[in-house]
Amino acid sequence: MMHDLYEIIHRRRDVRAEFTGDAVDDAVLDRILTAAHAAPSVGMSQPWDFIVVREEGLKKAFHEHVRHERDVFAATLEGEAAGRFARIKIDGVLESTLSIVVTYDPERGGPAILGRHAIADAGLYSVCLAIQNLWLAATAEELGVGWVSFYREEFLQELLGIPAGIRPVAWLCVGPVSRLQEIPDLERHGWRRRRPPALARHDDRW
Ligand SMILES: Cc1cc2nc3c(=O)[nH]c(=O)nc-3n(C[C@H](O)[C@H](O)[C@H](O)COP(=O)(O)O)c2cc1C
Repeated sequence: MMHDLYEIIHRRRDVRAEFTGDAVDDAVLDRILTAAHAAPSVGMSQPWDFIVVREEGLKKAFHEHVRHERDVFAATLEGEAAGRFARIKIDGVLESTLSIVVTYDPERGGPAILGRHAIADAGLYSVCLAIQNLWLAATAEELGVGWVSFYREEFLQELLGIPAGIRPVAWLCVGPVSRLQEIPDLERHGWRRRRPPALARHDDRW
């Protein structure tokens, strides 16, 4: 069992190009959302919600927005980086079967959220843990997930009717894939390399 968990952790990839568009079983979707909802959260606030997006019109409108934001970022690059970025696919919004937008409600469980008085971000950390649970569960179900962050929060809020005060944290493309790459896309495209784990470890002091 332990072996399986490590295997899934290392097999997980961020997917852009490999979505097939095939159906996702409702029971599978339910299992990955239930896994996400089982995440730890500060003060047990469970501040997340999940919007399952299947409507073509919504996906198209979001994709247009992402294309625009991609151009905004591309305009900040020069020389070799610009050339490298031009070859990198940054989303699979149109190709993936469905999307899951994960949101954060800072008021959930309030006003006194145990453990958040000194670190406001602890609420957001909790949402990210739910996302990671979802990502690993989807990997175990042989589905791909691609996190898209090329968007403005206000745009997504308006598009999906997310109430004021609730923040969209991630647009996740989800669905069956032809394969999971062994090497992250950004590394394959020479954008960045994975840092050896030993460099991330410090003992006693930084
Ligand atoms: C908070 C966050 C935002 C991300 N946003 C994007 C994105 O907008 N587009 C994209 O292609 N990948 C995005 N990614 C995926 C990363 O590029 C990817 O996780 C990283 O390159 C490592 O690859 P791996 O996930 O396959 O190990 C995002 C990942 C995280 C955690």
